[in-house]
Amino acid sequence: MEMDKLVSLCRRRGFLFQSSEIYGGLNGFWDYGPLGVELKRNVRSVWWHDMVTAHNDMAHLPGAPSPFEMTGIDCTIIMHPQVWKCSGHYDLFHDSMVDCRQSKRRYRHDQVRGRWVEAKGQRIFVSTMAETSAEQDDVQRRALKYFHLRGKNADQLQWDGDFLTLPEVADLSRVLGPDAKSLGTLTEPREFNLMFKTFVGALGGAESTAFLRPETAQGIFVNFKNVLDSTRIRVPFGIAQVGKSFRNEITPRNFTFRSREFEQMEIEFFCHPRQSKEWYQYWRDRRMSWYTALGLAGERLRLREHDAEELSHYSTGTADIEYAFPFLPPGDFGELEGIAHRGDFDLRSHMEGKLDPNTRPLQLEVDADGKPRWRGSGKDLTYRDDLSGERYIPHVIEPSAGADRATLAFLCEAYTEDEAPDENGKLQRRTVLKFHPRLAPLKAAVFPLVKKDGMPQIAREIYAALKADFPVFYDEKGAVGRRYRRQDEAGTPFCITVDGQTLKDNTVTVRDRDSLCQWRIRADDCVDELTRLLKRGETS
Ligand code: GAP
Repeated sequence: MEMDKLVSLCRRRGFLFQSSEIYGGLNGFWDYGPLGVELKRNVRSVWWHDMVTAHNDMAHLPGAPSPFEMTGIDCTIIMHPQVWKCSGHYDLFHDSMVDCRQSKRRYRHDQVRGRWVEAKGQRIFVSTMAETSAEQDDVQRRALKYFHLRGKNADQLQWDGDFLTLPEVADLSRVLGPDAKSLGTLTEPREFNLMFKTFVGALGGAESTAFLRPETAQGIFVNFKNVLDSTRIRVPFGIAQVGKSFRNEITPRNFTFRSREFEQMEIEFFCHPRQSKEWYQYWRDRRMSWYTALGLAGERLRLREHDAEELSHYSTGTADIEYAFPFLPPGDFGELEGIAHRGDFDLRSHMEGKLDPNTRPLQLEVDADGKPRWRGSGKDLTYRDDLSGERYIPHVIEPSAGADRATLAFLCEAYTEDEAPDENGKLQRRTVLKFHPRLAPLKAAVFPLVKKDGMPQIAREIYAALKADFPVFYDEKGAVGRRYRRQDEAGTPFCITVDGQTLKDNTVTVRDRDSLCQWRIRADDCVDELTRLLKRGETS
């Protein structure tokens, strides 16, 4: 699937718009339109339903070491600045960037790609920030320009090897920056903290500096004691949160994949240290099957365990659920969700002060005078098991997903081009979004075949009956074939049509978006039929 087609469908049909588009847009920020808002809301609410509200704490689920409880929380975006000092974000949450002295542009070091090329006795590295599908054209165009060659002399360019990323290039003096005209204009890489700064209150000085949260997780850790004290919840249990996070990404790109404002769906699962490995495996597999059940099955989805070098010192396991997004080079996958075994790092950091993640066992990070680098809350975040009397700091398993990335993956997977017969039986090309019915923005559309003979009245009655329970759409404009096509593009799984036969026997046609099968049901049974059809695909 070509990404351009999906991007243009998303705009045309109101799934996604550039933020502040009438002012030229703001890089890294996206708005969800009328269909997009429903799709993303469904992603979030299906996640919350499956992970939190529908969870049966008395059941022993397959693969889980024991029954467990789940609950939720909704924390503020701006939190006490000490949170980010103790969590490590203040000191460590950065990306490496390079600046171009000529174009004054700034790039994320590992996102600059390019190829070595030789011409006229000179070998240079031509870099680019173009999307994968356009990067060869971009480097070729710029290499020709650099060497003062015409397009017809492109065979004079001797390409050497495949695309590399900038960190793989040792000598920056031979690099032609992505927007530069001469060589060697890129600076050595420097660190850039990704947290957005703001000020709390009217004074605006250093003491009032605060940060927009770069993850929802910390709100859960700092409320661990509140949740324990205000409920009768017992370890093992998970606290879930869905909400906005902000990262000042150096080069946001690939549609919504890397945005500066996005939503996360995170669980912090607290368990006994002895059982943490089993719980890690349970969550890794459970989260993978969530995506599969919602339609991301097949080779484009994979679960990748981090190898030892990729793991934080305190983590005994991390896995990423990844999807082969169409904008990535063939064979590359992008992260949808990380499932991390975080040990007791977070609770201890908020209790004792910032820990040094490079120590094992974890030790408090101290300054030159031996004082804590960042002081913790000093609050007791241990857990006492009231049955065994044991007191310990629970270990944490963290399944951390992105709502926007999941939405984008569901859009990519759903996008299909096939053929369907029009009202005269002639095959026509159609674009269809084959969303899982649970995710589809609209569950059904209701049409009168023609705008006469009382058909619109019957169709409106059906629409009103359905509307009480489902997001449905009524359409009586234009040829019925075109109305079907519009619903296919919106990903609506079922269309209900009132036709001549309805006037005789009070039955209507139901059409399935994917199989194109049609069958008749009684007009009075539409609510039951749609309930049955949607229930058929329910998962957890
Ligand atoms: N608490 C752990 C944490 O935040 P992460 O891997 O940095 O881990 C978790 O983020 C998820 O959040 C990612 O797997 C991704 O789905 C989403 N995410 C992270 N940065 C993002 C960005 N710039 N734009 C969109 N989604 C992002």
